[in-house]
Amino acid sequence: MDAIVPTAPESPLVQVRGLTLTVPSAAGPVNILRGVDLDIAANAAVALVGPSGSGKTSLLMLLAGLERATSGTINLDGQTVTAMNEDALARLRRQSVGIVFQAFHLIPTMTALENVSVPLELAGRADAVVRAAEALQSVGLGHRLTHLPGQLSGGEQQRVALARAFAPEPKLLLADEPTGNLDHATGAQVMDLLFALRARAGTTLLLITHDPRLAERCDRLARMEDGRVLAAAALPSMPSRRDMGTIRA
Ligand SMILES: Nc1ncnc2c1ncn2[C@@H]1O[C@H](COP(=O)(O)OP(=O)(O)OP(=O)(O)O)[C@@H](O)[C@H]1O
Ligand SMILES: [Mg+2]
Repeated sequence: MDAIVPTAPESPLVQVRGLTLTVPSAAGPVNILRGVDLDIAANAAVALVGPSGSGKTSLLMLLAGLERATSGTINLDGQTVTAMNEDALARLRRQSVGIVFQAFHLIPTMTALENVSVPLELAGRADAVVRAAEALQSVGLGHRLTHLPGQLSGGEQQRVALARAFAPEPKLLLADEPTGNLDHATGAQVMDLLFALRARAGTTLLLITHDPRLAERCDRLARMEDGRVLAAAALPSMPSRRDMGTIRA
């Protein structure tokens, strides 16, 4: 029942509390995340910045349900991700969360159209192929539907990855240095597209980036250091501080 109640504008879409991730290693346990608290308001764009090794990608993997936390909770749109079984996590990844990585992670033996339509088919969308073709048109690749990833440029491959991420209309888009493998001009085009798609669909965005210019395009800045989110601040360009999330419960 709760799942169909729309999120109130003032309640955060994502609520992370006391999240830890500890993994074993030959030298003993490694504390990768040491108690992350973070709120992300619905429709906000949050830049996640911090030094290499501070835990940004690890946090993203937990938010996406691709890895399991050691302790703590993640709440996404009223659902407790950290309590989900594998089936529920798979559903979450197909329907509620879109992910864009630095490496495009397209399936090399599938055409652009198949890369976008197959996840929609798995999610049970009867209109998967039509929807996928529309999504590829929206990233300017309507003329590349039958190309394999190896026949596309880096920028085009990342645009296919964007189409794939946005096509299921996820509530939350997670992006991990999405322009890291692209030259400056191509990266800028991909980011313009990402921000345009998110504005059109009202998608909440968590963007990991080392690029201050990209971070500035977001509403808020969350800084990670040594496995914790230190602060989440509204960026100056933000018109209002109303939906600035808290970082501590
Ligand atoms: N499976 C693992 N086993 C042991 N240590 C790991 C594992 N995965 C990540 N780490 C360590 O956890 C820390 C955080 O890694 P993470 O990839 O989250 O950092 P990051 O902030 O994304 O860094 P970057 O900006 O370089 O991408 C690093 O010190 C990394 O070496
Ligand atoms: Mg990383």
